[in-house]
Amino acid sequence: QAQTVQMTVQPGDPKLIVSKHIQGQFAEHLGRCIYDGFWVEPGMNVPKQGRIRMDIVDALKKIHVPNLRWPGGCFADTYHWHDGVGPTAQRPKMLNLWWGNTLEDNSFGTHEFLELCGLLGTEPYLAANVGSGTVQEMSNWMEYLNSNEDTPMVQERKKNGHAEPYQVSWWGIGNESWGCGGNMTAQYYTDVYKRYATFAHDYPGTRLKKIVSGANGDDANWTETCMKNIPLNQMWGLTLHQYTLPTGSWTGSKGKATGFGEQEYFNTMRNGLRMDAIVAKHAAIMDKYDKNKRVALLVDEWGIWTDVEPGTNPGHLYQQNTLRDALLAGTTLNIFNNHCDRVKGANLAQAVNVLQALVLTDKEKMLLTPTYHVFDLYQVHQDAQYLPLQFTSPDYTLGGEKIPALNASASKDKNGAVHISLVNLDPKNALTLETALPGVSFKTVTGRMLTSASVSDYNTFDKPNNIKLADFKGAKKKGDKLAVTLPPKSVVVVELK
Ligand code: AHR
Repeated sequence: QAQTVQMTVQPGDPKLIVSKHIQGQFAEHLGRCIYDGFWVEPGMNVPKQGRIRMDIVDALKKIHVPNLRWPGGCFADTYHWHDGVGPTAQRPKMLNLWWGNTLEDNSFGTHEFLELCGLLGTEPYLAANVGSGTVQEMSNWMEYLNSNEDTPMVQERKKNGHAEPYQVSWWGIGNESWGCGGNMTAQYYTDVYKRYATFAHDYPGTRLKKIVSGANGDDANWTETCMKNIPLNQMWGLTLHQYTLPTGSWTGSKGKATGFGEQEYFNTMRNGLRMDAIVAKHAAIMDKYDKNKRVALLVDEWGIWTDVEPGTNPGHLYQQNTLRDALLAGTTLNIFNNHCDRVKGANLAQAVNVLQALVLTDKEKMLLTPTYHVFDLYQVHQDAQYLPLQFTSPDYTLGGEKIPALNASASKDKNGAVHISLVNLDPKNALTLETALPGVSFKTVTGRMLTSASVSDYNTFDKPNNIKLADFKGAKKKGDKLAVTLPPKSVVVVELK
């Protein structure tokens, strides 16, 4: 009989909020994320507004996507926004050089993206081209979108059908400037950043959130250099990209998306749990230069990255999505919640048909992945008050190695309901928890859960509901405490009212 985990939900600081933007998403011009994803051929027999695919929009509306990052990724530093506005037939075609040399017709451009954001009710997060663009090009884009004066840029926006300023405030200045965004050194990038940021102007009604292209994984030097060289008042956020590879290696196989065994599952989770130490490392560096935590850490690319599905274009990064991915998503969101004093945003890569997708499509067919269901479960944390947890996790052991079986985070929403999200990574053993909540009185306990027979189970276009949310009956009130039996390989969110 395993020992019962003793957990305490602490009262926390009423001012510390789990930003809804931790649940942000990412839509890059890559594979079938935009073209044949969000944006479909006029003849396709699916619900559409213009060419925007509405079954995807409806699914994403249900999980309240707080922000959507676009147009990349590596693509952003090759993208010239002006080629994607004006009459569609007159837009030049372009080769997507990073992702499979695919020919794009620029029919999905700035107006179309902002229409998509409007339909989703989400904040647009644009990435400006620093690698192959110019300061003027970025500055013009901002004026085109945000100004209301009688300038040529604004006249052009009006001619293209949008009279009012779009008021886009989230701007990434480059992407992965240490790599596909220009292979710059940290020192050089910070000078480039300051030059671009100088010409990134606020317009009436729109104060820009300028975002520094941040570190790769645990590259402490990048974060240190950015924090040292860029004045705090010239940046709203600093990013971090951290992917989870099952094999842990960028060369050779990254690991299979499906059909893996327990060792590969264990390795994936061990690699994914590194996010906690990596975030802590960058946060500690930021603390040295920014004690008052004015600058947001934005993990604006994260997720599992496996080998592509056999037979698909290797440059299109299409992969299936199993219960393993859902357990990783629940774990990662718990990590971000538990660092919400510094992590104010994050973007899963990517929303549709790419890497750890929420939605997969095959022509007219569409399915919601296990990862989607985790975002559905966790939306209760959006902008809720953070409640710290105290507990010691039992180990999940395999082949002499061990990782914590249990991870969790908690928050209190504006109506006073407490939500605890719990992930049991152990695929064989249930966990029992006894939770004290000093200062919280509650009458009812409900919950929802995601699990399946195997961590490698997934939804297919023929069986799209193989893995779906279910009511959770394993939590009950025991005196003034909460007693939970957490099934193996499960993500559970309990609600106390
Ligand atoms: O998400 C896929 C790619 O991963 C992005 O384009 C890039 O920023 C990162 O290397």
